[in-house]
Amino acid sequence: MTDVIASNSELIETPAGSEVMEKFIADGWNPDRFDIQSWLERTPWRNLKGTKYGIDPDQARTHSAVRDDRLVNQIYKLDIATFLTAERVSYLGISKLVGHSPDEASAVFLATQTVDEARHYEIFSQRLAEFGVSPQQRDQMMQDVTTKEMRKFYDLIAEQVDKGDFASAMMAHNIVLEGMAYPIYRYESAYWSAFDPSLTQLIRGAFADEVHHVKFGEAIIKRYTKLGDESRNRMLRLAGEFHQLMTDVFEATIQHYIHLYQLVANEYMDLIGGIEIFRGKTMRDVSEVDQVRILLSEIQIEHQTRMQRIGL
Ligand SMILES: [Fe+2]
Ligand SMILES: [Fe+2]
Repeated sequence: MTDVIASNSELIETPAGSEVMEKFIADGWNPDRFDIQSWLERTPWRNLKGTKYGIDPDQARTHSAVRDDRLVNQIYKLDIATFLTAERVSYLGISKLVGHSPDEASAVFLATQTVDEARHYEIFSQRLAEFGVSPQQRDQMMQDVTTKEMRKFYDLIAEQVDKGDFASAMMAHNIVLEGMAYPIYRYESAYWSAFDPSLTQLIRGAFADEVHHVKFGEAIIKRYTKLGDESRNRMLRLAGEFHQLMTDVFEATIQHYIHLYQLVANEYMDLIGGIEIFRGKTMRDVSEVDQVRILLSEIQIEHQTRMQRIGL
């Protein structure tokens, strides 16, 4: 086959800036920077450029304690297994929501979010594999770290998706779960920065995505709160339920796991004591129990602010 090429004089430059139309229907929200082109520019071409499974191979560093000290190794895997439980809820839920989207711009965005969440699931699985954890052992660990409080929390999220209630499901995923994920990721990336800078890097890459998912969550929920219909009340009721469940999840974590973290902190204070775990506060200044409580209160304050911003 031969291409037919117009003579040079007939070729003009396209596109002519101002003439570019909206390409997708976005029903009552601003779809700028939520398409696949933006995703490529932000994620694979920028945040993840040069990385392999979320880590720059030239900067891969891990403290020997993560491998050799049983306790450090245990909480390291525990943390990653906990991330994995949330990432699985995310990629399974968000992929289903593609089909319940109110418009095509949302559907396209959620397709990119599905890839992000699946990637998070993959990189955390890869990290465990690098520490000798088989997929079967990983599944078992994920089951073990899921407290009954966490189960309830995840179930309530999945329930909104299964009902196909887009507004409530987005609220559950991209406001509550994501809004919770990112203070935790911020905390964990600081926590592991001395033991495993590689994990810190990997978490930061996921964190950058979560921040963007929350932005979409805010944009799309605003669309619903403006409608002023019954969806607003449903979201409000749900927010109340989640607020309580979130508190229960954190209290249960303190109850079950905090002693392990405290033991590690005591033993490795020389290594990790100087880490600024919260703004203006180092690991040395704050006990592990207080750290979890501060983290929960940070999450709740951010959640409140976000709720106000989106009109709930
Ligand atoms: Fe994620
Ligand atoms: Fe996310």
